Amino acid sequence: MRRRLIVGNWKMHKTATEAAVLVRRLADLVPDSAPVEVVIAPPFTALSAAARALPASAPFLLAAQNLHWEDEGPFTGEVSAPMLKDLGCQYVILGHSERRQLFGEDDEGIKKKIRASLRHGLRPILCVGESLPDRKKGRTETVVSGQLRKGLEGLSKDEIPMITIAYEPVWAIGTGHAASPDHAASVNDTLRSILAQGWGAEAGEQVRILYGGSVTPENAGEFLASARIDGALVGGACLDPQSFATIIAVARKAAR
Ligand code: PGA
Repeated sequence: MRRRLIVGNWKMHKTATEAAVLVRRLADLVPDSAPVEVVIAPPFTALSAAARALPASAPFLLAAQNLHWEDEGPFTGEVSAPMLKDLGCQYVILGHSERRQLFGEDDEGIKKKIRASLRHGLRPILCVGESLPDRKKGRTETVVSGQLRKGLEGLSKDEIPMITIAYEPVWAIGTGHAASPDHAASVNDTLRSILAQGWGAEAGEQVRILYGGSVTPENAGEFLASARIDGALVGGACLDPQSFATIIAVARKAAR
């Protein structure tokens, strides 16, 4: 049985000072998340403040939103896996569509980032998703399958269970137009069958496949009711502690 996972992607929001306030409020609202795992991904500059502000008992793990594949070197403006690990990160979001579309990230670079994160014991959350034109042309499965295969190319059977996938259709991100739970579940099935083909059914069964794109407290239950959707990657709604706490509560209820 895969443990449900809720991830809050803060994107470029909150100073370090504001992050400390937000996580304290969240910890008050969510003293316990069992059996659901909860991950928060503040910007790089707020990771340390968020880690320090969290009470020791708080049920949240930290994620970064990106990394560079080298451990160190002349890469102005970049941050590496060992640096994130040292701040207490356990996860890293990679290949988010905003990185792909706005910052020119490609599958080859994302693959190197996944390898770097695994090398340092950071669990990658690989985002895949089709654009609206792709969807209109009926290319959803082709696009997401390609992103998955290329991102995970060369990984061993033992490494695969460390991976989490987030299916995030680009047209659903930040638009208020979430995919239907049926659509998300059917894309998740496709992704899981590719994992099974590539690395065996057992390894494939261990990978969590989330849905992301305009998840709210109101619609989270519809996604989480499906055994084919292992959790949610939440953007906008995670910046409001009450909304994020409600999504976590919905996930806990669905997991019982
Ligand atoms: P959204 O973002 O929930 O604001 O649509 C999701 C994401 O980009 O991960």
